[in-house]
Amino acid sequence: MRVRDREVVVCADAHEVSLRGAELFVALAHRAQASGQPLSVALSGGSTPRTLFRMLAGEDFRSRIDWRGVNLFWGDERSVPAEHPDSNYGMTQRELLDKVPILEANVHPIPTGLTTPAMAARQYEETLRSFFHLGPGEWPRFDLIYLGMGADGHTASLFPGSPALSEKERLVVENYVEKLGAWRITLTAKTLNYGRNVVFLIAGAGKASRIKEVLEGRSDPDRFPSQQIRPLNGRLLFLLDRAAASQLAGQGV
Ligand code: 6PG
Repeated sequence: MRVRDREVVVCADAHEVSLRGAELFVALAHRAQASGQPLSVALSGGSTPRTLFRMLAGEDFRSRIDWRGVNLFWGDERSVPAEHPDSNYGMTQRELLDKVPILEANVHPIPTGLTTPAMAARQYEETLRSFFHLGPGEWPRFDLIYLGMGADGHTASLFPGSPALSEKERLVVENYVEKLGAWRITLTAKTLNYGRNVVFLIAGAGKASRIKEVLEGRSDPDRFPSQQIRPLNGRLLFLLDRAAASQLAGQGV
């Protein structure tokens, strides 16, 4: 169903959420390949995308993608080394990168572990400027951006009330998250909103009340940062399982 300027698809379960997410990846990879363009994808972190990554690395999908044209980035990262159990890159490496013939030069992790969060953010911004050949005042247009949503309504590492929410100039920022007592590095909402296809993968009853606020409640993007995600002229798709969608209008079980 289309709710204002976004699509909400209610899937039977978390598996279907990932399946649809994976099918979109294949479709965009084929479209990029047909036009001789590289595919640029920003990956989300946390636990939800694990199933998606396993699917993409699995028999049903791996061989349907020409990995030579795929360029992977991250929408956010924890300020830990890649080998740390909390690393989004580390999880992706285990579930996807080690299982597909992607070119190492086309994998662009956020450089944590070696530098300060501020330095990592600056370096990653340069990585994006270089890959997308950006001039002053230009913004990267990822072909596909996967996002998740926390039970508090955060997305990427744009947490409620955190400094990154008000950033309007930078592509990537370091963001101190009070409730975690930890630094994160995150693409800013402005960068995410230049995405051509911005897809939330959200599953589980624990997200139900928050996604209702985000999609059907009043606008309060400082309290619900996922509401900041409104692509300028891109597609916004929410892939929800029934449990996460259970409190949405018309989804009463
Ligand atoms: C991260 C993610 C974050 C995640 C949400 C949902 O680094 O943790 O990018 O935004 O998508 O916290 O996480 P789950 O999928 O684990 O619920």
